[in-house]
Amino acid sequence: MRSDIGQDILKSVEILNHGGLVAMPTETVYGLAANGLDPSAVAKIFEAKNRPFFDPLILHIANVDTLNQIVSNVPQKAKILMDYFWPGPLTFVLPKSNLVPDLVTSGHATVAVRMPKHPMAIELLSKLSFPLAAPSANPFGYVSPTTAQHVQDQLGNKIDYILDGGNCTVGIESTIISFEYEPSILRLGGVTQQQIESIIGPVTLSVNEHSNPKAPGQLDQHYSPYCKLKQLKFNELNHSSIILFYSPETEKKFWETNGFINCNALYLTMHHQSIEAAANLFSVLREFDKKGLTEVFIEFAENEGLGMAINDRLKRAMAKRD
Ligand code: TXA
Ligand code: MG
Repeated sequence: MRSDIGQDILKSVEILNHGGLVAMPTETVYGLAANGLDPSAVAKIFEAKNRPFFDPLILHIANVDTLNQIVSNVPQKAKILMDYFWPGPLTFVLPKSNLVPDLVTSGHATVAVRMPKHPMAIELLSKLSFPLAAPSANPFGYVSPTTAQHVQDQLGNKIDYILDGGNCTVGIESTIISFEYEPSILRLGGVTQQQIESIIGPVTLSVNEHSNPKAPGQLDQHYSPYCKLKQLKFNELNHSSIILFYSPETEKKFWETNGFINCNALYLTMHHQSIEAAANLFSVLREFDKKGLTEVFIEFAENEGLGMAINDRLKRAMAKRD
């Protein structure tokens, strides 16, 4: 069975009001949305994604009134960042109010909140009387979806409706910043650490590199296609190798530095632009599986700005599945 795909906001509202599941476009990736204040609706998200219950969800809102209902306190620095980056790809972890079900937060005393920028997401949210819990609309551990078709390909039989808002412009998930203690980045994403620090000063980076239930969701292995991804090493290449270069420019440098082998080259960005690379990333990884590729060598981005978020995704996508 496949889901209906369309642009019908009122139909989406109807489904969500009745506790159903709608895939919703955001500027980062497509989300699998349900009424975030209704535990039985939220439970359907975990079931559809096969997501472990220890991995908490983000609540999506369209206005500050809803924010004040679901969190108990907004520190001054968080307010400043919200003014600057909302709507947009920045998620805040804040102390939760009693209204938020434990299922959403996996029993934590904090809740993750974000105001998405996609016009359809905003319109949908503004027609609802509750926030939407929405993780990325992919089976747990797989590559996140950046088109309605990506959602259909993998979760089509598990969702009531897919709201089609075109290609996601950012292409990687929101940055998550926690204000439980001192401001700390838990996940790199669409807003860079430098952008944040230019506004509120130094923040710590606790993007963990290990499976650690204390930092749920930040698992070693995530975002992974079935195709095996290997770090690019010249001495492992041969004529049948397939390489995902960052850009034609970095490819040129790689051959100049190491010597040349004629093999198959793919690129994350044709124009050597990190915004373009981020927007293409998940589609490119999905293509490997669609084409039935079994092994691809991966070149990392330069590790600064958005490149850090891209590399974070690539590293986790490369990590071995258990
Ligand atoms: O861009 C995005 O953030 C997308 C779109 C759909 O908005 N959503 C998304 O959701 O990436 P998801 O569920 O794939 O990732 C949410 C992450 C999880 O890794 C989870 O561990 C973390 O947010 N998270 C949620 N609540 C948290 C909390 N209270 N404390 C720490 N981490 C939390
Ligand atoms: Mg996800």
